[in-house]
Amino acid sequence: MFQSNRLTTLLNIKYPIIQGPFGGNLSTVDLVATVSNAGGLGSYGAHILPPEEIKKLITNIRNVTAHPFAINLWVSNYDDGFATMSEAQFEMYLEPFKPFYDELNLTYPRYPETFYEDFENQVDALLEMSPPVFSFVFGVPDEAILKECKRKEILTLGAATTVDEAVTLSDAGVDIILATGFEAGGHRVAFQKPAEQSLIGTLALVPQVVDAVPQPVIAAGGISDARGIKAALALGAEAAQLGTAFLACAESGTSNLHRQSLFNNKSENTVLSRSFTGRLARFIPNEFISQCEACSEFPLPFPIQSFFANPLKQAAAEQANTKFSSHYAGQGAGLLKHRSAFDLMDQLITDLST
Ligand SMILES: Cc1cc2nc3c(=O)[nH]c(=O)nc-3n(C[C@H](O)[C@H](O)[C@H](O)COP(=O)(O)O)c2cc1C
Repeated sequence: MFQSNRLTTLLNIKYPIIQGPFGGNLSTVDLVATVSNAGGLGSYGAHILPPEEIKKLITNIRNVTAHPFAINLWVSNYDDGFATMSEAQFEMYLEPFKPFYDELNLTYPRYPETFYEDFENQVDALLEMSPPVFSFVFGVPDEAILKECKRKEILTLGAATTVDEAVTLSDAGVDIILATGFEAGGHRVAFQKPAEQSLIGTLALVPQVVDAVPQPVIAAGGISDARGIKAALALGAEAAQLGTAFLACAESGTSNLHRQSLFNNKSENTVLSRSFTGRLARFIPNEFISQCEACSEFPLPFPIQSFFANPLKQAAAEQANTKFSSHYAGQGAGLLKHRSAFDLMDQLITDLST
């Protein structure tokens, strides 16, 4: 029977279960509340939201749960050297995408005023609202931000894909370290070496991170049931973060087509690709990914690739077109059983107690 540990005490949650945040409008207030109200930690991926939306979001979450929750941002919202895009670059980048837009009968995008949210402005909004937990990926926030979190008693939770990244986060004074193995769905959130050189599996990464840092560690990547959570605890982690298992539930913001492909997927049938965003992420393979992988003009840097690919995946979701759908999935997809986060939490808690 699970009692409590250093991390569950610190987070003030009952069970060592973290619902991983999802960017790109796939998180929902309902999912966060369901998990937090059941005794885990719900998380909302807010990296594409403007500051005012982040403030509203935090108020909305507080309206539906009195329990702790996390708000997640991306420390780096653009690849080095690509903070701006000239009109000439825009035209050049659009060119290889044109056949895809034509295939879906979509009008070409217009030159944008901005194509990403400013992290500093997002953080200002977050600090003003003081959520219980600030979780982040793709880097370490500045010292001043971490200091302000301490002052406001906002717990910080940073993600590492390697032991060196974990040590960097630890030395910066981050409160909780997420060790995320290469099995994980979504992006490979490396921030020191290229993502392709940061592909350590959860089983190898977690105990090495536990040995290297004094902070409590959360394990993520390929964990979809209580056996995985127990294994993570046995490796020295003090909680497990599940992404794909919650994404498959009705409370998440994804499409029914995506849910269906998650349930139909064999766990080994995922690929790492930069095709949809310009950063490496794990998906169920489809034709768009194969064509991008075969094309020398792709991938463009992040977020330029996602700026041009987003309309394609949105149209694909509306048209139930699997060729252009971005079906993120972790390697644990083959274990999925639950279609409701309420039922999933119930099962995880029951199985953790036996
Ligand atoms: C569709 C999708 C979007 C994600 N977006 C984010 C994000 O914005 N920020 C983040 O920290 N993690 C993100 N993740 C990672 C999850 O929060 C979680 O750590 C990961 O899914 C765990 O691995 P699993 O899918 O094998 O359970 C995302 C994962 C998925 C599947």
